[in-house]
Amino acid sequence: MKTLIVYFSRTGENSVNGEIEIITKGFTEVVAEKIAKKTGGDLFKLEPEIPYPANYEECVKRSRIEDQYNEKVPYLHPLASLDEYDVIYLGFPCWWRTYPRVVASFIRDHAWVGKTVYPFATNEEGALGLAEMELRGALRGAIIKKGFACKGSEVNNIDDKLDNWIGK
Ligand SMILES: Cc1cc2nc3c(=O)[nH]c(=O)nc-3n(C[C@H](O)[C@H](O)[C@H](O)COP(=O)(O)O)c2cc1C
Repeated sequence: MKTLIVYFSRTGENSVNGEIEIITKGFTEVVAEKIAKKTGGDLFKLEPEIPYPANYEECVKRSRIEDQYNEKVPYLHPLASLDEYDVIYLGFPCWWRTYPRVVASFIRDHAWVGKTVYPFATNEEGALGLAEMELRGALRGAIIKKGFACKGSEVNNIDDKLDNWIGK
């Protein structure tokens, strides 16, 4: 059984507990790396061809349009296929109460039948929002496990919670 951890995560200005902070390592990336360490899985970071602006307001503006029109967001270093993986941890920051369109683009590019998918997210509210429901429609034929979510500001304090979730 081979495991992949695929995730998107952004650096730059972000709103953390309502305050604008400069983030040098994305919150979702911290969670993704912890999962990789705990599972021994391969890590794959989704990187949009055109990086999201470091400026928070500009990122909000661009991502809102992408979300509204469900735009395809091209990304670098695409994986040829998921064939060699049985278990996929799929991580993202919650944007507009769901997953960013670069993650939606990755989902559309791959076949999910028979894959076991564990969604995980970081956000301001500590919940998956609408993402779980949208994933059920998008990951056709996959076995979707219960998701993991935490607040971005809490990612350094989640090991027990992660241990209780991984592989369940
Ligand atoms: C464009 C944008 C939209 C966001 N929308 C939401 C949202 O709908 N709900 C929420 O709780 N947090 C929202 N957030 C906050 C992020 O989900 C949160 O800061 C996350 O932990 C960032 O993860 P990252 O550092 O891995 O990118 C949004 C942030 C951005 C930049």
